[in-house]
Amino acid sequence: MVLIAPSILSADFGNLKKEIVSLTEAGADLIHIDVMDGHYVPNLTFGPGIVRQIRPYTSLPLDVHLMVDNPDQMINWFSGAGADIITVHAEVCPHLDRTLSLIRDCGKKAGVSLNPSTSEKVLEYVLDRLDLILVMTVNPGFGGQAFIESQLEKIARIKSMIGDRDIKIEVDGGINPMTSAECIAAGADILVAGTSVFAGGEYKKNMDALR
Ligand code: DX5
Ligand code: ZN
Repeated sequence: MVLIAPSILSADFGNLKKEIVSLTEAGADLIHIDVMDGHYVPNLTFGPGIVRQIRPYTSLPLDVHLMVDNPDQMINWFSGAGADIITVHAEVCPHLDRTLSLIRDCGKKAGVSLNPSTSEKVLEYVLDRLDLILVMTVNPGFGGQAFIESQLEKIARIKSMIGDRDIKIEVDGGINPMTSAECIAAGADILVAGTSVFAGGEYKKNMDALR
């Protein structure tokens, strides 16, 4: 069964408590938090203070996606704030093996995200340090972009690289009921969705449509 991780990038930031509670009651499996630093991506969003404040409002895992230039120094911040999964971008980690160890040393699940133009080959020698691989199906930075079809082949290749390891494949960007079906067929385990979950405020109906 595929898991749904609503991205609170599309939430009403003035009512985050209500949004987190509503998503939890509507059957979300994880809460996806898009951390953007205004450098790695041209957008600025949440810091650890916000993660700490929303932590009490749900028992769901907090899935923190770091779209930042210097993730190593932030791992402790988000770990201390209550993240359960911390995902870094391979493109900004010259010492990816070390960065993933830092995450696991905090007792958190370690994820690596790949931009659409990044090959899955960068994962080959860190597979045993990983709990999650996040395939960006749009270029990171904004919600509401169109799904990039070429990533379906990447998802399938990653699936076969993983073999029998306990590593989840997550997809992020442009996920709607049509593209979700393609991602699930290619091997995705977790669907991140902002626009399509929040559309019209019908969170449960929208998440069911993705499943
Ligand atoms: C993009 C973020 C996504 C984004 C997805 O940089 O990582 O999580 O919120 O938004 P939609 O579902 O609108 O494409
Ligand atoms: Zn994301």
